Parts: sequence; structure tokens; C-alpha cells
Amino acid sequence: MMALRFPVFSFICYFFFCVFALSFIVTTIVSQPYRRPDQIEILLAFKDEFTEYECNDSVASSWIRDAISFDGVVFDSETGVVTKLDLRGGCLSSTLGGNSSLFKFHYLRYLDLSYNKINPNSFSYNNIYSFLAELDRLVNLESLDLSNNDLVGKVPSSISNLSRLTYLDLSSNDLNSRFPLLYNLTKLSSLDLSNNRLEGKVPEWLWNLPSLTALSLSHNSFNSFQGSQEEVFLNSSLVYLYLTSNAFHGPFPKIPETMRYMVASNNDFTGEIPLSLCNPRNLSVLDLSNNNFSGSVPSCLSESLTVLNLRDNKLRRLPDMFYRSDSLKTLDVGHNQITGKLPRSLLSCTSLEVLNVESNRMTDTFPSWLKSLPNLQVVILRSNGLYGPITYPPSNISFPKLRIIDISSNNFTGSLPPNYFLNWNASLVNVPEDHQRRPQYMGDSYSLGFQPSLYVTNKGLHLKLEKILRIFRAIDFSGNRLEGQIPESIGLLKSLHVLDLSNNRFKGYIPSSLGKLINLESLDLSRNQVSGKIPQEIASLNFLEYINMSYNKLTGPIPQSTQIIGQQGSSFEGNVDLCGLPLEKSCFGESCLPTTQIQQSKSPKQEQVLNWKAAEIGYGLGVVFGIAIGQVIATYKPVLFFKLFRL
Ligand SMILES: *[C@@H]1O[C@H](CO)[C@@H](O)[C@H](O)[C@H]1NC(C)=O
Ligand SMILES: *[C@@H]1O[C@H](CO)[C@@H](O)[C@H](O)[C@H]1NC(C)=O
Ligand SMILES: *[C@@H]1O[C@H](CO)[C@@H](O)[C@H](O)[C@H]1NC(C)=O
Ligand SMILES: *[C@@H]1O[C@H](CO)[C@@H](O)[C@H](O)[C@H]1NC(C)=O
Ligand SMILES: *[C@@H]1O[C@H](CO)[C@@H](O)[C@H](O)[C@H]1NC(C)=O
Ligand SMILES: *[C@@H]1O[C@H](CO)[C@@H](O)[C@H](O)[C@H]1NC(C)=O
Ligand SMILES: *[C@@H]1O[C@H](CO)[C@@H](O)[C@H](O)[C@H]1NC(C)=O
Ligand SMILES: *[C@@H]1O[C@H](CO)[C@@H](O)[C@H](O)[C@H]1NC(C)=O
Ligand SMILES: *[C@@H]1O[C@H](CO)[C@@H](O)[C@H](O)[C@H]1NC(C)=O
Ligand SMILES: *[C@@H]1O[C@H](CO)[C@@H](O)[C@H](O)[C@H]1NC(C)=O
Ligand SMILES: *[C@@H]1O[C@H](CO)[C@@H](O)[C@H](O)[C@H]1NC(C)=O
Repeated sequence: MMALRFPVFSFICYFFFCVFALSFIVTTIVSQPYRRPDQIEILLAFKDEFTEYECNDSVASSWIRDAISFDGVVFDSETGVVTKLDLRGGCLSSTLGGNSSLFKFHYLRYLDLSYNKINPNSFSYNNIYSFLAELDRLVNLESLDLSNNDLVGKVPSSISNLSRLTYLDLSSNDLNSRFPLLYNLTKLSSLDLSNNRLEGKVPEWLWNLPSLTALSLSHNSFNSFQGSQEEVFLNSSLVYLYLTSNAFHGPFPKIPETMRYMVASNNDFTGEIPLSLCNPRNLSVLDLSNNNFSGSVPSCLSESLTVLNLRDNKLRRLPDMFYRSDSLKTLDVGHNQITGKLPRSLLSCTSLEVLNVESNRMTDTFPSWLKSLPNLQVVILRSNGLYGPITYPPSNISFPKLRIIDISSNNFTGSLPPNYFLNWNASLVNVPEDHQRRPQYMGDSYSLGFQPSLYVTNKGLHLKLEKILRIFRAIDFSGNRLEGQIPESIGLLKSLHVLDLSNNRFKGYIPSSLGKLINLESLDLSRNQVSGKIPQEIASLNFLEYINMSYNKLTGPIPQSTQIIGQQGSSFEGNVDLCGLPLEKSCFGESCLPTTQIQQSKSPKQEQVLNWKAAEIGYGLGVVFGIAIGQVIATYKPVLFFKLFRL
């Protein structure tokens, strides 16, 4: 049957395919705009210059498929010439030289070769030079993107001949030497030279380019500005300026009134934060983190800001300045030397999502008054001199969106009532419905090139998360003098990933409601005075990757689950009388009961399968905390914000 049917079937298939293909080709050819044959010839010759096709979806691979599909190529509909080549991420590997056919596209207005492996340097050292020098045959070019290639060396001054350029991106290559000469590019509006090895002074004429609105010099080794450092930016009409991770030093220049994004983190600017930063009416992002600023935060800085990041400086005062900051979403003044109280005017910041004042010298009571801020998600008060109880008058609105709270290493005292967490009508209670394929981070939506970062404690290590996952939820009350029972209502916070109550004076039993925290990945109760048995319910927490109950007064058998017996012994040391894995001491008699019960209720084999499954889920899949920690390892790459300004 099959043998008979098959040829007939395939013949019919073949027939229909031919008809379909033919009609497709005819209709496409008819509907195709005119293409000059010489342009096709140049295209095919140009294609031959690419030596390897490293992946399957190479755009240029369509160029040989037939005579009509040229992915990434745009022909002018009237004259039939090539005006646009978009070969971004085309898996093209080439050593384009000065004699490349590319330079025969005289009418090209848009050229994007970014994210390829174009490395004109591999044969002769001057090739980058001759390659870029030849570009000035392409005098019509308006947009040129050669970012993310392997271009090495110096940018030739002939690039200044591309007088129609409005968009130029040479970022993420290996360009070295001094600032490239571009001074005749009067139409240039966006220039990205970030992620190279450029050094020396930034020339004064750059700021006089009349159309320049977006500039990134981030991640280079520039060290100063030619001309008067104080006034040098003032002539420009820049709206977006990124100077991150260079070696700039001295007082911070005045910025033009047009500025919206001023990002100058990771430099060595000194002195006070200049009052001139208050002038631009539309300033939205100000990031001066990781510099050497001292003195007070100017209180005029505020009204229009969405992001104020002054972390890692030597600031001493944060005035009560936020009465009109209703667009502020992120305030980070962590790692300074700020004394005094938390500004009460923060209560006016109805958009505030992230508040970080960690590692300062603030002395104040617990800011329960923040509980009515409708958008507050992250509160970091770690390492200050904050004191007193952390209870607050009960009410039905309390921190409605809180996801991460870290009040560790302060002087908070007192006990928490059993229903303490009852009124946290927060994201902590509701397990988020986050089914997005790609992880979502805070700041994704509102700040080009800036995302709030955060330190968290995991496995006893204090690590920096460069970005905050939107689904990440954590409570860190460690290193205070909290006492009494751990509130039973903790079990309400079902979406919690990290719970750290270590280094306090909690006593009494460990609430069995902890077993309801089904998403918990890290649990630290070490260095308290809790006693009694560890509740069996904890053994059911499948995602629990880290647990530490050391230095308490616990007794009896450790509940046995793959997650728990896989911990280090030090996680349970320093207790009165614990037994069972991972400790070496085994349990005898009655105290063995829980373990035996499990073994009796399921056959050993079944048990093993279940446990391995649990381990797989816990360790293997993309666990939230795992992802979050993964961010620490991933190197920080600034968002390619300039893509937004592409033609
Ligand atoms: C290309 O596709 C083949 C078959 O689909 C696959 O085996 C190969 O790994 C792919 N290569 C790349 C670089 O993606
Ligand atoms: C360019 O010149 C080099 C040698 O100088 C040669 O190997 C290469 O094939 C030439 N490329 C084209 C496209 O003519
Ligand atoms: C700019 O182009 C002109 C004419 O094509 C040429 O003479 C000149 O040398 C070029 N400038 C640079 C810096 O290459
Ligand atoms: C740049 O413009 C100046 C005059 O403004 C001119 O003398 C010079 O030749 C131009 N340079 C290039 C490379 O076009
Ligand atoms: C500002 O631009 C004008 C004209 O473009 C120029 O004369 C002046 O020197 C520039 N000032 C600074 C500080 O660069
Ligand atoms: C501020 O933004 C508004 C609205 O986008 C705009 O009209 C105004 O020109 C901007 N002001 C400055 C100084 O750039
Ligand atoms: C920071 O600034 C102070 C003066 O305010 C200076 O003494 C110190 O050397 C600077 N530190 C660095 C690392 O530049
Ligand atoms: C906590 O308070 C004690 C005195 O009550 C003080 O000695 C200690 O320095 C304070 N700790 C912090 C971190 O402020
Ligand atoms: C809070 O409770 C009061 C009464 O106790 C009620 O009138 C009010 O609507 C409640 N608010 C919310 C947001 O539930
Ligand atoms: C949170 O508050 C909303 C109303 O503001 C209510 O509908 C919801 O049930 C509350 N959730 C919890 C967990 O209390
Ligand atoms: C558990 O906590 C104790 C006390 O802080 C510490 O000494 C020990 O190293 C921790 N164990 C693990 C596995 O992190």
C-alpha cells in the first residue's frame, strides 16, 4: 500500500509545488521594484568576500538562493540602486579591505554591518585604516553601524568626509589611540564610540557639532576634556550623554539645559555635586555613582528626575528635598557617609519603586510611614544606625507592592506579633504570574541604559546583582536585635525566594508555616536562640537550595529531603542536639521517627525518584535566585540604547 501510494502522493505534491512556486515567482517578480543589474552584480561579488557562514540564518545566504530574494537589501524603487544594506547579526565573517565591492555601492545611505566578524586586520595591519578610509566613496551614507565587530586600530580622519552622516555607531570594537577626527559631520546626531580602547582627551570641537543629541563614550579610557572643563558641554545641544567607566576626574562640568540623560558613573569626579545640574528642566536620569563626590546632595535636584543614582561617593547629607519628586522611581544613595534621618518628603514620591540607602550612617526609627507608597517595591536600609521596633500600627494598606526588603545590620529591636505579616498585602503574598520567555528586570521600561542594582546575601556571601529580576522576592532582617517568636504569619508570604532572619535573638519554635513558602530558595535562621525540633514541613520545600540553622538551640532529627541532606554540615552545627544527615551524628530510637515514616509510606525506589525530581527542579531548572545570582557573573553590558535612534 505505502509503496504504491507514495509516488502518486509525491507526484501530486511535486506538481502542486511547481504550480505554487511558479505563481509565487511570477507574482513576486512582477511586484518587485526595479533592480539595476550592475547592482545585483556588485551584491553577488560582495557576498563572495564573506569567507564563512557560521550560522544557519545568515541573511546573505538568501542572496544565492534565487535572483529575487536579497534579505537586508533595499533598492530604490525608481532608480533600482542599492540604498540600504542591513546585515546586522548576519553571521558574516570577512576581512574586508579597501578594494571591497562594498565601496561600489555609491548610492548607499544606510549601512549596518554590526554584530558580525568583520576584521580587516587579519592580513595587514593597516587594513582597518584602508577599509574605513575607503568609506568616503560612499558620500551618501547617512547611517553607518559597524558596532560589535573586530575592528582594530585607529579611525582615519577621512571619516569626516561622510558629511551626510546622522548616525554613527563604532561601539564594541577594538579601536584604540586618540579620539577619531569627525569634526565636519555637521548633521551627526548620534555617535556611539563606547566599548573600545580610546584614550586621552575628548576634543573641544565635539561639543560644537551642531546636531549632536546622543553621545556615548562609555567604557573607554578617556581622562579629560579639552578646553575649559567647567563650561565645555555648554555649547552642545546634547540630550543623552553617557560617560560611564572612563578615567575622567576633577570637578563635574556644567551641563546644557537640553539634557535628559546624564550618566557618568565609574569615573573619578571630585568636589561637590554642582548646582548647575539643577538647571535642565527635563533631566530624567542622573547617574553619578562610583565617583568621589563629597558634601551635600543639592536640594534643588529633584523635580523631573526618574532616576537619581549617587551610590558609592562620599556624600554626607541628603536634604529633605523630595516634596515635588513625583516622577522619581529609583533613589540610590547607598555607600556614602550620610547621617541624619530618612527624608520624610519621600512620602511625596508616589512613583518611587526602589529606595536604597544602604551603608550610610543614618540614625532613625523604622520608616513605617513608607507603607502607603503605592509603587514601592524595593526598600534597602542595610548597614545604618537605624533603631527601635519594626512594628507599625495595623492598617489595611501596608506596602502594597513591596517585594524586597533589607533592613539588615541595623539596631532594630523588639518582637514581632504572630500576625505581623498579615497586613502585607504585597507582591510577597501573591505568587507572580510571570510567564514571560525572557526575564524581566526593574528599570527595563523607563531608563535607557540604567537599571537599579542591589546587593543580596546568599550562602553567607554578599553579592551584587547588576539588575533586579522583577519576580525576585526577598526579606532580610538579619543582624539586628529582634526577639520573640518568628511570626507564624510568615507562611503567608508564598512568593518569597530568600528569607534571612539570622543574627537576631529570635526564640521559641520554628513555625511550621515555613513549609508553605513553596518558592523559598534560601533560608537562614542561624545565630538565634530558636529551640525545639525543626518542623518536618521544611522537607517539602523543593526549591530550597540553601538552608542554615546553625548556632541555635535546636534538638531532634533533621527532616530528611534531598535538598536538606545535600547541605553542608556547618548549616546545622552549634545546636543543642540535632541528629541525622547532613550531620554525622545519626538518630536513634524515637527521634528517628520522621525518617522511618517516610520510608514506610513509600517504597525506597519511589522515594528516590521523588527526591531526584525535587533535586532536579531545585538545582537544574532556571530557579529565580539562580538567575538572579547568574547576573553577578554575567559581565555588565550597557543597553544598546542608541539603537533607539537608528534611522
Ligand atoms: C544548522 O542547522 C543544523 C541542522 O538544522 C544543525 O545541526 C546545526 O547545529 C546548525 N548550526 C548552527 C551554527 O546553528
Ligand atoms: C583585495 O586585495 C587582496 C590583496 O591585496 C586580495 O587578496 C583580495 O582578493 C582582494 N579582494 C577583492 C574583492 O578584490
Ligand atoms: C575628503 O574627500 C576629498 C575628495 O574626495 C579628498 O581629497 C580628501 O582627502 C578627503 N579627506 C580626507 C581627510 O580623507
Ligand atoms: C572640514 O571643513 C573645513 C572647513 O570647515 C575644511 O577646510 C576641511 O577640508 C574639511 N575637512 C574635511 C575632511 O572635509
Ligand atoms: C561655542 O560655540 C561658538 C560658536 O560655535 C564658539 O565660538 C565658542 O568658542 C564655543 N564655546 C566653547 C566653550 O566651546
Ligand atoms: C523639555 O521637554 C519638553 C517636552 O518634551 C520640550 O518641549 C522642551 O523643549 C524641553 N526643554 C528643553 C530645555 O529641552
Ligand atoms: C577624593 O577626593 C578627595 C578630596 O575631596 C581627595 O583627597 C581624594 O584623593 C580623592 N580620592 C580619589 C580616589 O580620587
Ligand atoms: C547599636 O546600638 C548600640 C548601643 O545601643 C551601639 O553601640 C551600636 O554602635 C549600634 N550599632 C549600629 C550599627 O548603629
Ligand atoms: C480599609 O479599611 C477601612 C475600614 O476599616 C475601609 O473603609 C477602607 O475601604 C479599607 N481600604 C482598603 C484599601 O481596603
Ligand atoms: C490585597 O488588596 C486587594 C484590594 O486592595 C484585595 O482585593 C486582595 O484580596 C488583597 N490581597 C491579599 C492577599 O490580602
Ligand atoms: C551557616 O552559618 C554559620 C553562622 O553564621 C556559618 O559559620 C556557616 O559557615 C554557615 N554555613 C554555610 C553552609 O554557609
